[in-house]
Amino acid sequence: MQERFDGSFTQQEPIPDEGIAAALAVLRHGRLHRYNVAPGEVAEAALLEEEFAAMTGARYALALGSGGIAMTTALRALGVGPGDTVLTNAFTLAPVPGAIAAVGAVPVYVEVTDALVIDLDDLAAKAGQARVLLVSHMRGHICDMAALMAICNRAGIAVIEDCAHTMGAAWDGVPSGRWGRMGCFSTQTYKHANSGEGGLLISDDATAMARAVLLSGSYMLYGRHRAAPPPEVFEAVKYDMPNISGRMDNLRAAILRPQLRALAVQGARWNERYRVVEGGLTGTPGLTLIARPLAEQFVASSIQFLLAGWAEPAVRAVLDRCVARGVELKWFGAAEPVAFTSRYDTWRYAPVPVLPQTDRVLAGLIDMRLPLTFSLDDCALIARIIRAEVAAVWQSSAAPG
Ligand SMILES: Cc1ncc(COP(=O)(O)O)c(C=O)c1O
Repeated sequence: MQERFDGSFTQQEPIPDEGIAAALAVLRHGRLHRYNVAPGEVAEAALLEEEFAAMTGARYALALGSGGIAMTTALRALGVGPGDTVLTNAFTLAPVPGAIAAVGAVPVYVEVTDALVIDLDDLAAKAGQARVLLVSHMRGHICDMAALMAICNRAGIAVIEDCAHTMGAAWDGVPSGRWGRMGCFSTQTYKHANSGEGGLLISDDATAMARAVLLSGSYMLYGRHRAAPPPEVFEAVKYDMPNISGRMDNLRAAILRPQLRALAVQGARWNERYRVVEGGLTGTPGLTLIARPLAEQFVASSIQFLLAGWAEPAVRAVLDRCVARGVELKWFGAAEPVAFTSRYDTWRYAPVPVLPQTDRVLAGLIDMRLPLTFSLDDCALIARIIRAEVAAVWQSSAAPG
């Protein structure tokens, strides 16, 4: 009898008891707005920022309503506005070009490599086309950040990191989000910390961060932050920043604080699951795993592999056969966007360039969630199912040429 997986690819773990207790405390006192504090009280949102700054080593941190708002806030804080161009990698998800468009700017897409990271040669070639790069560490894959920063520093490009998939990760010992001028994180349900929706922004740049705090909707209450620049920095910019009301509330902050404390432990559990699936898929004919460089301290919450050079019907056959056995795979090669998965050329509000290398990579790119509710046995079973179905299709039809 064929094995089948019966678990859910979208089921997260519950919020830890400590987070539930903290959330109940906020609900009981009713002061959910971050600036609504009792005398002597420090808001959960302010504490979260202080703790996230300490955790990442950043001077400043700001809690926001979503990762997308964190990115638009960072772009605005660095002065990106209507008509400006912003470099970004072409392997991405909707909120990234969306954030660029939200400030009236125009994405300039950079090719992706077979390792699923931004192509540094193409970045160097396009460096003259924008003064800001929004690099997305898509699906947790981090490029050689030292090399990226060297290119950008030479060209005078400010780097914003989209760390939606790299909370707790690092390149060469430097936390993700700490290489560029600003780092943006998401705490939306499918990310490494779960508050339903939420975002965090970090930086060492005092002026940019003061602008970001004002943009987020701090009114003249920025003095209640504990991980923001000193008041004199706000004095210089406080009448110039529109309020876009992207604040995080105390309820979500309360849920997140214990999750941040558990991040290292949870990250290790995610990576255990990743390594079991990776090990189970190693050596599958026709399937290419993504090599993870030693300098990349990743935190997996999903796994990707390539069916490189496969014809579309064969890829679809693998997806269909796997889902029939309970294994949900996503495909970045589909012409039409499905659920969360889309491609750079889906977005007709921005110019669609010719990117043959990215098109080739995305045509074979398969993606799978790895929620922590999967046991290691589940992961081994899932890998056996994928392996068997890829092998079956490969033998019957997929071998390229
Ligand atoms: C790569 C990437 N960047 C940014 C975001 C934005 O996060 P949010 O959903 O919190 O706006 C997401 C969300 O899925 C994402 O996948």
